[in-house]
Amino acid sequence: MSMRNLPLSEVYRLLEPGPVVLLTTAHRNRANVMAMSWHMMVEFTPPLVACVVSAADHSFVALRRTRECVIAIPSVDLAATVVGIGNCSGRQADKFKKFDLTPVQAEQVGAPLVGECFANLEGRVADTRLVNRYNLFVIEVVKAWIDPTQRNPKTIHHRGYGEFAVDGEIIKLASGMP
Ligand SMILES: Cc1cc2nc3c(=O)[nH]c(=O)nc-3n(C[C@H](O)[C@H](O)[C@H](O)COP(=O)(O)O)c2cc1C
Repeated sequence: MSMRNLPLSEVYRLLEPGPVVLLTTAHRNRANVMAMSWHMMVEFTPPLVACVVSAADHSFVALRRTRECVIAIPSVDLAATVVGIGNCSGRQADKFKKFDLTPVQAEQVGAPLVGECFANLEGRVADTRLVNRYNLFVIEVVKAWIDPTQRNPKTIHHRGYGEFAVDGEIIKLASGMP
């Protein structure tokens, strides 16, 4: 065996979460968008997604107050934009303008869809019991959109410290998981 110690600060890089997404909110007539990679599915249907939104983020207040958001899923074509969005705050800038994103009116929530993303999930906060402790919101997806013109979009996955993996080869196995 040739195991060596791995610093605990590296663990999250191994348990790589789903794709880096954009989370939009709208509060006091102002839309905002942030990058988010700390999220996970917790229920199949209705879809429930646990999302960690730091209390330091401008989006945190909007999400807590309005209890609504959109989880927009970008393809690798938007990777540099996504990182730019994640490196600044809506406190200082209108990020939709700054990054030339198209806000599209959602059907069920006040937060906008992102026109450039290949999928958009309208969500409502379903559980806030872990917000105070972990900044963790459980979001119920109430409406989902997909852009059929974006064929085979490749998602981006955060590996930490500026490193990303791009969704790659697809293999099919007889998995019992839906
Ligand atoms: C790749 C990437 C992933 C990120 N993931 C998260 C996350 O899961 N949760 C979080 O609170 N912030 C995350 N951030 C940081 C926020 O996107 C960043 O603080 C953002 O600028 C907050 O914007 P706001 O102040 O306008 O809400 C991430 C940033 C990047 C670049």
